[in-house]
Amino acid sequence: MDTYKHKTILLTGASSGIGAAMARQLADPTVTLLLTARSADALHTLADALRAHGTSVAVFPHDLSTPGAAADLHEQVTAAGHTVDVLINNAGFGKQGRFEEYDAATYAQMLTLNVTNLVSLTHHCLPAMLERGAGGILNVASTAAFQAVPFFAVYSASKSFVLHFSEALHSEYADRGVTVTCLCPGNTESNFHERAESNHEPPAFLVESAEQVAQVGLRALLDGAMTKVSGGGNAVMAAASRLLPRAAVVAATRQMFAP
Ligand SMILES: NC(=O)c1ccc[n+]([C@@H]2O[C@H](COP(=O)([O-])OP(=O)(O)OC[C@H]3O[C@@H](n4cnc5c(N)ncnc54)[C@H](OP(=O)(O)O)[C@@H]3O)[C@@H](O)[C@H]2O)c1
Repeated sequence: MDTYKHKTILLTGASSGIGAAMARQLADPTVTLLLTARSADALHTLADALRAHGTSVAVFPHDLSTPGAAADLHEQVTAAGHTVDVLINNAGFGKQGRFEEYDAATYAQMLTLNVTNLVSLTHHCLPAMLERGAGGILNVASTAAFQAVPFFAVYSASKSFVLHFSEALHSEYADRGVTVTCLCPGNTESNFHERAESNHEPPAFLVESAEQVAQVGLRALLDGAMTKVSGGGNAVMAAASRLLPRAAVVAATRQMFAP
């Protein structure tokens, strides 16, 4: 895919942070943006701002942490007459703390949002892309995907799933015209940390703005990259985690995320 022009783009987690930054960067009079998240007001405010610059925008508020929500969303999008050319699975949340601190329902919602509905939405959108022999999927994982993260256990495992799922699909579909790209941001300025109840404070050189991460992800999607770590420092850390013994990596990560 060499351009976003004239594409219909379904973007989850569009109400804030990296997703909202992607929506702003994708805005163009030739593009149709389909925005989803739970916060209808925030989506409509963003949509109005994007329409003012000529972008065609439709809003589909959904809670993707509930089973079946991805299927419902896809049905609504299709019923409204849209065929998705580009799918950006960006919505996600985590919770920092000891595993037993959060209840089972919270983890079930996290896994439904970060994993199950990401797979489901991909499964619903892929056939039309394959039929046309063209399309792009961008899945937002995390640098937490590259190793186990003590005190972020379920979240980091969910992002490992996203990384491996995306890389497998990239290999399966690249020769049929559909690219699947996994974006792995490191620490990014957004609402994520407050919702995660995180006290993790990385060195400033590893922190990026949502706009920077969005730009890196959208570029990687256009390039048809398999995996893209956002930020040079984060890329070095991710590569190092592959070279060192797993126990040493988990021990170092434990130090960083211990409450
Ligand atoms: N910030 C970081 O340091 C960081 C690092 C690595 C990876 N990431 C990943 O980047 C992605 C975007 O996060 P962000 O940093 O931009 O954080 P954010 O500002 O909290 O944005 C998260 C987005 O996901 C949506 N979302 C959350 N729960 C949802 C639900 N149940 N149903 C539908 N949408 C839901 C939110 O919208 P509503 O609240 O309106 O539903 C929001 O639009 C996530 O997948 C996150 O795991 C973030």
